[in-house]
Amino acid sequence: MTLARPSRSLLTVTDLGRAGFVEMLDLAADLKADKRAGRERRSLVGRNIALVFEKDSTRTRCAFEVAAYDQGAHVTYLGPAGSHLGREESVADTARVLGAMFDGIEFRGFAQSTVEELSRHAGVPVWNGLTDEWHPTQMLADVLTMREHQSGEIEAISYCFLGDGRSNVARSLLITGAMLGMDVRIAAPRELWPPESLVADAQREALVSGARVMVTDDTAAALESAAFVYTDVWVSMGEADAEWERRVPLLTPYRVTAQAMAATGRPDTRFLHCLPAVHDTTTALGRRIHDRFGLVGAEVTDDVFGSAASVVFQQAENRLHTIKAVLVAALGR
Ligand code: CP
Ligand code: NVA
Repeated sequence: MTLARPSRSLLTVTDLGRAGFVEMLDLAADLKADKRAGRERRSLVGRNIALVFEKDSTRTRCAFEVAAYDQGAHVTYLGPAGSHLGREESVADTARVLGAMFDGIEFRGFAQSTVEELSRHAGVPVWNGLTDEWHPTQMLADVLTMREHQSGEIEAISYCFLGDGRSNVARSLLITGAMLGMDVRIAAPRELWPPESLVADAQREALVSGARVMVTDDTAAALESAAFVYTDVWVSMGEADAEWERRVPLLTPYRVTAQAMAATGRPDTRFLHCLPAVHDTTTALGRRIHDRFGLVGAEVTDDVFGSAASVVFQQAENRLHTIKAVLVAALGR
């Protein structure tokens, strides 16, 4: 299929607009079905894609790489220590160099301004693979996953995010749901609410889309009748490790437990998480949290993470199909 509105760069969650976002989901669903059926057509043969990461990644990097390979493109990975970007060479100069060699650039990093500057100077499409502020490719996978579990209109989908309401993922969920006309609730302690200006942006989007937007510290109100419950790590990449001391007491009432899942009052509520998750003590971070705070898991308990309601690995797989859609829409032929 072809997109009615050619969408090339993807820097923030509103770049596609409602119609473009839904068309991207449709393209991703087609690409997923094609791959499953073994009938994928390679539309990126001869394309070269740069993957620039200032922060680490498992899903986003792998999704870009496998999507590119499936479609016949080549990738070059520049990791946190693998290039001159931002140290010996400016973002603008790097953008000009990469733009002359590659057909598109993925960037994951700290400042949103970096990905925007890359885009201004590269002359080729630039895709935001996560910044401190936004995680737009994650939103495509998340809404595709929700749509796979709830057929019908996207506007009928309700979801509740519990946790750090200022994280890139929470901010992105707030604005994406508002743009798409969904029922979006963010439950967080007041200290961790999204900035007021962002909530105002969401409310403005909602006036146009008909979305219902709730930002609250009342978990019961936020969870009531939610079809999806979503959480994210309590301290994001790039934040000080000392933040755990402050966040654990603040966020423990907002962790996703079996009781929180039951509080939706719906037997069919699903659990979502962008991953990686702190849900047990098998990781160094999980053990540190256990030893320091006596918690097994942090933002989600292991029983919820491993439950039949948890669709986190389907959501992770959908990173591949949605990122492939972004690449094909921008560079496919
Ligand atoms: N969800 C997500 O972006 O995962 P990675 O950090 O592994 O890319
Ligand atoms: N908020 C998290 C998301 C990871 C995919 C972080 O930025 O670390």
